[in-house]
Formats: sequence, C-alpha cells, structure tokens
Amino acid sequence: MEKLFVYYSLSGNGDAVAKEFSKHGYKTVRAEETKSMPKSMVARILKGGFLASIGHKSKINDLGVDFSDCERIVVGTPIWNAHLACAANTIIELLGDRTEGVDFVLYSGSGNAEKATAKLKEKFPAAKVLSLKQPLNEPEQTVKSIEDFVL
Ligand SMILES: Cc1cc2nc3c(=O)[nH]c(=O)nc-3n(C[C@H](O)[C@H](O)[C@H](O)COP(=O)(O)O)c2cc1C
Repeated sequence: MEKLFVYYSLSGNGDAVAKEFSKHGYKTVRAEETKSMPKSMVARILKGGFLASIGHKSKINDLGVDFSDCERIVVGTPIWNAHLACAANTIIELLGDRTEGVDFVLYSGSGNAEKATAKLKEKFPAAKVLSLKQPLNEPEQTVKSIEDFVL
C-alpha cells in the first residue's frame, strides 16, 4: 500500500508542496488539464475563478494510479475564487465513494481557505485539511506544516 499526493498546480506552488511530500515517502502525481489555461493573469482569474465557483470539473490526463492501492491519498489544489480549482473537482470525482484515508492540502495567495475547507468537510468529515499560504514564497512554513501533516 502506498501513500499518494495527487495534485494540480497552475503556477508551481503545488509542485513545491509535492517536493515535500516526496521527502516523506509519498508518490506524487500531478494532474494535467487537457486544455491549457489562458496565459494572462486577468484571463486566468476570470475564467478559472468563474469555473471554480460553479464547481466545474476540468478534463485531465489519465493519472495512471490505482487509488485502491493507496492507504492514504492527499489531494493538493490551489484555491480559485475561494473554491477548489477545477482539476481538483475532477480528482475528487475519480475517488468515487472513497472518503476514508483522504486528506487535503489547499494553497492560496492569502492562506485563507475557510469556505473551501467547510465545503470539503461536508463530504469528507474525517479529512485533515491543511491550508498553506503561497508555498513557493513561504518555504519554511511549507516544510514544517507538511512535516506535521504527514504524522
Ligand atoms: C483563477 C485564480 C483564482 C484565485 N483565487 C484566489 C482566491 O480566491 N484566494 C486566494 O487567496 N488566492 C487565490 N488565487 C491565488 C492562488 O490560489 C495561489 O497563487 C496558489 O498558491 C496557486 O497555486 P499553484 O501555483 O500551484 O497554481 C487565485 C489564483 C488564480 C489563478
């Protein structure tokens, strides 16, 4: 049985989180959207922010993992417009009925993901949900928080 960090990242913060999980023996798998997001930040905020707010599930590549082989699955996602990014909605759909052994790491510009956390807790009441502020800019916080999270 393996431990998995499956995540989406548009601008690299999720990759910094994945690097920490790999140091703790986690397999890391990055979801890639089949359609790329716009290049400009304004267009990203408008498109991504809107789609995230309606719970859109984006098309992603085949993750190539069998979740039933994983004792713990940690889903990592940026916060978009106070919601999970669209690819994370797809990952959650792929988990099917599984709620046990599923935890979350949310990364955002503000470090505040209260709305998304409350929503996740409705479906995953036992989940640990870690909210990080911009992991690329806050490496010490990231290292320490993930050390505690994996225990
Ligand atoms: C479309 C979009 C919407 C965002 N909305 C929020 C938000 O509501 N709150 C926040 O704190 N940060 C927001 N951000 C910032 C990202 O959550 C933050 O930069 C995150 O660390 C990005 O992760 P990534 O680099 O792995 O993609 C938004 C970014 C984008 C692109």
